[in-house]
Amino acid sequence: MFNKSLIEKLQTIETPFYYYDLELLKNTIAAVKAEADKYNFHIHYALKANANEQLLKIICKAGFGADCVSGNEVKAALKNNFNPSSIVFAGVGKTDKEITESLVSDIFCFNCESIEEIKVINDLASSLNKKARIALRINPNVNANTHHYITTGLEENKFGINFWELESVMDEIKNSSNIDLIGLHFHIGSQICDLEPFRLLCTRVNEIQHWFETRNISIAHLNVGGGLGVNYHEPDKNAVPDFKSYFEVFNKFLDIKKHQQVHFELGRSIVAQCGVLISKVLFIKKGKKTNFIILDAGMTELIRPALYQSYHKIENLTAEFLSFERDKVETNYDVAGPICESSDCFAKSYLLPESKRGDLIALRTTGAYGQVMSLEYNLRERAKAIYSDGI
Ligand code: LLP
Repeated sequence: MFNKSLIEKLQTIETPFYYYDLELLKNTIAAVKAEADKYNFHIHYALKANANEQLLKIICKAGFGADCVSGNEVKAALKNNFNPSSIVFAGVGKTDKEITESLVSDIFCFNCESIEEIKVINDLASSLNKKARIALRINPNVNANTHHYITTGLEENKFGINFWELESVMDEIKNSSNIDLIGLHFHIGSQICDLEPFRLLCTRVNEIQHWFETRNISIAHLNVGGGLGVNYHEPDKNAVPDFKSYFEVFNKFLDIKKHQQVHFELGRSIVAQCGVLISKVLFIKKGKKTNFIILDAGMTELIRPALYQSYHKIENLTAEFLSFERDKVETNYDVAGPICESSDCFAKSYLLPESKRGDLIALRTTGAYGQVMSLEYNLRERAKAIYSDGI
C-alpha cells in the first residue's frame, strides 16, 4: 500500500487522519461484484461500517444497494444517490420519525425485529395510505464464534424474532393490511473468518423456510446479512477478502427457490483494508517494563481496541520507508493515545523499530468501524480523511 514518495507526502499533512486507498477500494468492489454477479446475488453495502461520502459515492456507482440502521443512514444513502428501491432499513429500535420518513422515501424494505415494531409500521403506513414492505429478521440461533460484542445471531442477543414467536408474528401480519411480507432476514455476527458458521446459517435458513412453505406463505427475498471477516494480522497478504469462497457457500448450501432473490449486507469486508489511521509520535515515555509511544491519535479516532480489545497492525512508516537503519533494531512498546483513559491504548508490548518523536505511524485495517465510530470526547476534532487520489 505504501511507498517512499507517498510517505513523504503524508508526512507533510497534519495528523491524525484516515488515509483511504481508493484503488484498493475499487479493486475490492470489483471482486465482490464479480463473485456476487455469478449467482445474481444482490449486495447492500452496510453504511454502519463507514459512511464517508467519498467512499459511498464509489460504492453506489458500482450498483450496490444500501443497508441502513438509522434514519440518518437512510438520508446519507439517498443523498449519495443510492436508489430508494435498493435501501433496506434494519435496527431493533426504529423511531416513528425514522419509519415515517423511510415510508415517504419508498425504500425497498424494513427488516423488522419485533411484533410491536410490525404494529407500529402498519399504523404509520396506514396513516400515509401506503403499504410497507417488510422482511422478518429471524434470530437463527447460530453461533458465529466471533467476539461476544459482535455476535448477533444467538437467542440471548437482543436482535431478531425468535423462531418460537413466528406463529404470533404471522397472526399479526394477517391482520395488518398495510404490511406486505416480502422476505426473511438473518445476520449472525461480524468478523467471521471461518466459513462454517455461514454453512450452518444456510441449513438453519432452509429449516425456517420450510416452516413458511408448509403454511403456504411465499417468501420472495432471502437476506442473509453480512459478517465476512478480514485479515487484521496481515493486511497486505489478502487485501481483497475471499469473496469467491464466501458466495460459494451460500450458492451450495442455501435452498434458493426459483422465484427467490438472495441479498447480502456486507460492510467490513468491502471497506476495512482500504483505510489506515495515520498518526504521529508525540513522545516516547520511559515505562517500568516497556517504553510508551504516545501518539496524537487515540480511542477518539479509533475506538475498536478499547472497546473490543481488537488487534490492528501498527507500522512505523518513517522507520520502514525513510530511515532504513532504524528498521533493524526492534523494541517492545506500549502504543497509547493522548486521551485521559487507561483504556486508550492501541497495543501492549508491540514490537516496532526504534521510534522517535515525529515518526509517522500507521494503524492498519481501519477502513471499517474506524472513522465512523470516532468521537469528540475530550473535545477532540472529529477524525479527518485524506484520499489516495487527492495527494
Ligand atoms: N447487517 C446487520 C444486520 C448487522 O448488524 C451488521 C453489522 C452488518 C450487516 C454488517 O456486518 P459486516 O459485514 O460489517 O460484518 N463495530 C463492530 C462491528 C459491529 C457490527 C454490527 N453489525 C466492530 O468494530 O467490529
